[in-house]
Amino acid sequence: MQEMAIGKQQVPVLGMGTWHMGVGNSGQYQQELASLEYGLNHGLNVIDTAEMYGEGASERLVGDAISKHDRSKIYLISKFYPANAAAADLRNALTNSLQRLGTDYLDLYLLHWRGEVPLSETMSTLQDLQREGLIRDYGVSNFDTADLAEALAVTGGAGIHANEILYNLTARGSEFDLLAANEQAGVATIGYSPFGSGDGKSIVLPASLRELAASKGITEHQLMLAWTIRSGQVLSIPKAGNAKHMAENIAAAAITFTLDELALINKYFPAPDKKTPLAVI
Ligand SMILES: NC(=O)c1ccc[n+]([C@@H]2O[C@H](COP(=O)([O-])OP(=O)(O)OC[C@H]3O[C@@H](n4cnc5c(N)ncnc54)[C@H](OP(=O)(O)O)[C@@H]3O)[C@@H](O)[C@H]2O)c1
Repeated sequence: MQEMAIGKQQVPVLGMGTWHMGVGNSGQYQQELASLEYGLNHGLNVIDTAEMYGEGASERLVGDAISKHDRSKIYLISKFYPANAAAADLRNALTNSLQRLGTDYLDLYLLHWRGEVPLSETMSTLQDLQREGLIRDYGVSNFDTADLAEALAVTGGAGIHANEILYNLTARGSEFDLLAANEQAGVATIGYSPFGSGDGKSIVLPASLRELAASKGITEHQLMLAWTIRSGQVLSIPKAGNAKHMAENIAAAAITFTLDELALINKYFPAPDKKTPLAVI
């Protein structure tokens, strides 16, 4: 599978999202555990979670999934609430996340979205936590260009290694300027909700693109997912609640598009031709 860099770390361009996981009945829990297990056993070592997801339930599920694996081979991302972005709260939030995950460090710790706490306080606390070895890298999520510039200014233009943003066929605004701004600053782009999210919110493809998927022998979801990672510079983190979906998503990493196919996709989901405020879920 293609790889990209987050800071000094190389990771596959496909990871595993976990929003809404770990909150169902025991049957669903086992299915989700099997899904993450399948991913871990088939080359997906990046897992994205957050203290927000099920108020810790997702982190507990992830902790369960990674408990039988070599921690050093897993790239673990978690995120903290903006309300926990002040120094003491942030330490406390991290301690709780680590406990639920059953680990003593995170590979990447992200501010989930911008809140009221000054970025200078949050960033300096993240730097302390990094020095103490509790997090390997830190970053932000849902930061558009202006917020990113401010965060970079606070850290002296370095230190922030990722920006996790909404990126899918219907949310391409970042292609106008944010993807380039991330890259220029050495900030990896992590793209979330490649299918437009769950609970019936999945992107609906027009007939021509459904036909394109059929002609390539792939599913509509595989088309959507493969498109998000086509550049090799976005780490996409679909959520798959069962091993069948996980296997299909892994197979999507091998799908490529011809220029004609990309042009057809652009016809229905055009690239932005002007600044578009970053969309957020
Ligand atoms: N930083 C942020 O603010 C932020 C915001 C949103 C999401 N995220 C992260 O991004 C991850 C992904 O986003 P998301 O969970 O919103 O939505 P998503 O990955 O776009 O879509 C998830 C939905 O797609 C379905 N699905 C997955 N693989 C499929 C396949 N191969 N075929 C058919 N359906 C498939 C899932 O169903 P099943 O569950 O039945 O497989 C689920 O209903 C989250 O889990 C989270 O980790 C981050």
